[in-house]
Amino acid sequence: MPPRLEISKNLIWLQDLRSRSLDNQGIDDDQERAAVKTFLKLTIVGLILAGVSATSFALDKAKARAMFDNNGCASCHQPAETLVGPSLKDIAKRYKGQKVVGEVASRIREGSEGRWGDMPHPAMTTLEPADAELLARWILTGAR
Ligand code: HEC
Repeated sequence: MPPRLEISKNLIWLQDLRSRSLDNQGIDDDQERAAVKTFLKLTIVGLILAGVSATSFALDKAKARAMFDNNGCASCHQPAETLVGPSLKDIAKRYKGQKVVGEVASRIREGSEGRWGDMPHPAMTTLEPADAELLARWILTGAR
């Protein structure tokens, strides 16, 4: 056999080998679909986990409402009408857009006088500071 032909035969053999090994490594359609599905599932699981951790940082409205009910706040504060103290709606309106959670929380705990009228808000130091803060946050974001 002349050397040229020999070389081209070898080349063809090499090419064939390469394409066969690519086929072996290669992903067929089913595998690709399975991989995409797995990827999507992992993405969804990730999003759910992110959502769960986001809600654990979110305002615990149910807890805030229960504390409001159990600490006698409602005997002076109503959602929309002025009673002994300002309505929750008016408080949220007055401080809208202001970063006052800390101040309002300490007035809930330590008492307040003269900001809304003549009636004082009693000191309620039995409330934990963190609970007063939760109440302040809840009221300032609309008490819903
Ligand atoms: C005895 C009646 C009374 C009770 C009980 C009461 N408050 Fe008040 N509260 C008031 C009055 C009166 C004011 C207005 C005080 C002032 O003019 O500074 C006020 C003011 C507030 C304010 C506005 C403070 C500010 O920075 O302007 C918040 C918030 C508040 N109260 C939340 C609460 C919460 C939460 C509770 C229950 C843990 C509660 N209050 C219990 C009478 C009361």
